[in-house]
Amino acid sequence: MRLRRTLKNIAKSGQLAKVLVSGKWHITDAMIKTAQPVVARKIDGLEVFIYKDAQQVTERAANEMIAALKAAPEPKLGLATGGTFEPIYAAVAELAGKRDCSFSRATTFNLDEYVGLPPEDPQSYHHYMHHHFFSKVDMPTDREFLPDGMQVDPKRAAAEYDDLIGKNGGIDVQFLGLGVNGHIGFNEPKTPFDSRTHVVELTESTLQANSRYFQDRKMPTEAITMGIGTILESRRVVLVATGAAKAPIIRKIFEVEMTEEIPATALKGHPNAVILLDAASASEAFER
Ligand code: F6R
Repeated sequence: MRLRRTLKNIAKSGQLAKVLVSGKWHITDAMIKTAQPVVARKIDGLEVFIYKDAQQVTERAANEMIAALKAAPEPKLGLATGGTFEPIYAAVAELAGKRDCSFSRATTFNLDEYVGLPPEDPQSYHHYMHHHFFSKVDMPTDREFLPDGMQVDPKRAAAEYDDLIGKNGGIDVQFLGLGVNGHIGFNEPKTPFDSRTHVVELTESTLQANSRYFQDRKMPTEAITMGIGTILESRRVVLVATGAAKAPIIRKIFEVEMTEEIPATALKGHPNAVILLDAASASEAFER
């Protein structure tokens, strides 16, 4: 496999710097101090960084968040939930403490929330964010925003959420996880690339992937998600994918042109999109 060979050769020759500066290769921003990626390359307009393992990806993503926090006097961060981001939030909280970084002037907008789950429900994304992140940093509670899945009219809640992002001047850096079907936020395949925040019916693939969190009961079938158009308006987008389960979809993303069949390919049209992968999630893309 090409990636494995690359890793082995680099380990043998110690020529990482040379590999990174040759041709189209790029080196990470000096602000983002972390382990060196094994691959740093621009593919289809996307800055792709591949790290040895998920731990290094976590470190890089956490450093991205700290860098975003420092880059603006009143930073607006777009946040994701899910398994990939649990260690990232732990790392951000630790780094913020060590480097004396404050979230007191930050505003956060989460991507999505299930329809019908109250904030105190352990499976709601409100609860996830409080548990994994907000309770561990000095975020002002009135600046932590998530879509309101409990409003009587979820469509109206979605439109209001979109307006709120706009009124706050948009998002500086939007962090994204990746669904095994290529979803970003809960934008499932075939979602228009110009969509605004909206109510979505979750697909079978997403219901299956997330049912692990709802073992004792039926999981909600609808969610409110930031639209792809809304996401693309963020000034920078950082998509993170780790683990072998994401390898087939990562391969597809690099194989095809922009297509609404694979929501994450929308990022190819963004002027400042970064993809952070570990060797496991990148393994199929590098097999050919
Ligand atoms: C969650 C979200 C989703 C997840 C994606 C990956 O806010 O927007 O798109 O990021 O489903 O989830 P994990 O990390 O659990 O594989």
